[in-house]
Amino acid sequence: MSGKVLVTGHDGYIGAVLTPTLVRSRYDVVGLDTGYFSKCLLGTEPAKVPTISKDLREVEASDLKGFDAIVHLGALSNDPVGNLNKGWTEDINFHASVRLAKAAKQAGVRRFIFSSSCIMYGLSEAQFVDETAPLNPQTDYARSKVQTEQALQELADDTFSPVYVRNGTVYGLSPRQRLDTVLNAFVAEALTTGHVTMHSDGEPWRPVVHVDDLARTFGLYLSAPLETIHNQAFNNGADHLNYKIRAIGEAAVKAVPGAKLTIEARPGADQRTYRASFAKFAKTFPDFKFEWTPESGAVQLADAFRKVGLDKVAVASGKFIRLSWLRHLIDDGRLDENLKWRGVNG
Ligand SMILES: NC(=O)c1ccc[n+]([C@@H]2O[C@H](COP(=O)([O-])OP(=O)(O)OC[C@H]3O[C@@H](n4cnc5c(N)ncnc54)[C@H](O)[C@@H]3O)[C@@H](O)[C@H]2O)c1
Repeated sequence: MSGKVLVTGHDGYIGAVLTPTLVRSRYDVVGLDTGYFSKCLLGTEPAKVPTISKDLREVEASDLKGFDAIVHLGALSNDPVGNLNKGWTEDINFHASVRLAKAAKQAGVRRFIFSSSCIMYGLSEAQFVDETAPLNPQTDYARSKVQTEQALQELADDTFSPVYVRNGTVYGLSPRQRLDTVLNAFVAEALTTGHVTMHSDGEPWRPVVHVDDLARTFGLYLSAPLETIHNQAFNNGADHLNYKIRAIGEAAVKAVPGAKLTIEARPGADQRTYRASFAKFAKTFPDFKFEWTPESGAVQLADAFRKVGLDKVAVASGKFIRLSWLRHLIDDGRLDENLKWRGVNG
């Protein structure tokens, strides 16, 4: 498929990599974002695309006329954001997503690619969780993904084809870097302090995926025949990218000469574990190759962090931690209690 694609949340961590990837693939890309993290740049700003500067909670069908597809990334993307205010996660991640989907359907946009999460499986005793595994969301964020998938399923019909792209934890370099996800945080810690401290025993498993590989997978869902993806969930990744937290920490310290890994194995530490099965993805997209691993991603991050001079002050500024930055915007009076801008964005 080629055509006109709306990427919501295009000014976020994944969006800032996905948008140029789609432009290179000759899609006509428009972004939609309210710009919470527009000031949170690491390195150079990505090339600009035409943008609808709007809150997802205010999107109308008229905004969406003429698009062939929507890739919906826009969300509060961090588990603990729900702790700051439970209502925001439900309003933005769930209600605004349903509003967007209904408006898309009304505007005749058939292909709707929802950036969901494997986190919705929660704790699992199963060896590998596939798309049929029971959902067991443990947080407001995870619940918002479950609720949205369920609501989108009800909208699916001959005129509207949602697809649920369940991602593992994303790592790697983006112009709108995040340091609140596992490998990214470990590399920043290794580089700025000389050590990585793990509270758990490092044994829990997590599926992880590099942001560049992830960006290329969205191209698959944009071009796949609709009948192969219509109203379907996909664990989006590869079996060999299920990693133990300990191995992710080891990749981080290996990329920073002299850095040490300390495994505290504290009682009561987060020991949640699960491995995702990516068999359905591999069967549906047999030619797709994941090019990155946490080991190569750690080297990429360490090189880039050195180049821009990332230091303890930049890490402590909270600019690259979603929750801290939103709190900063509220404390500064720039966002109101509903997470809406007071006056001009930013
Ligand atoms: N990063 C991960 O590890 C990961 C893993 C699984 C799923 N996901 C999902 O992928 C998507 C993108 O994640 P990310 O890491 O790029 O997050 P991010 O926080 O970096 O980006 C999200 C973007 O959405 C925008 N946004 C938030 N609320 C909005 C609103 N009300 N109106 C308009 N724009 C709004 C923000 O300004 C931001 O630019 C999210 O849906 C997230 O849940 C991310």
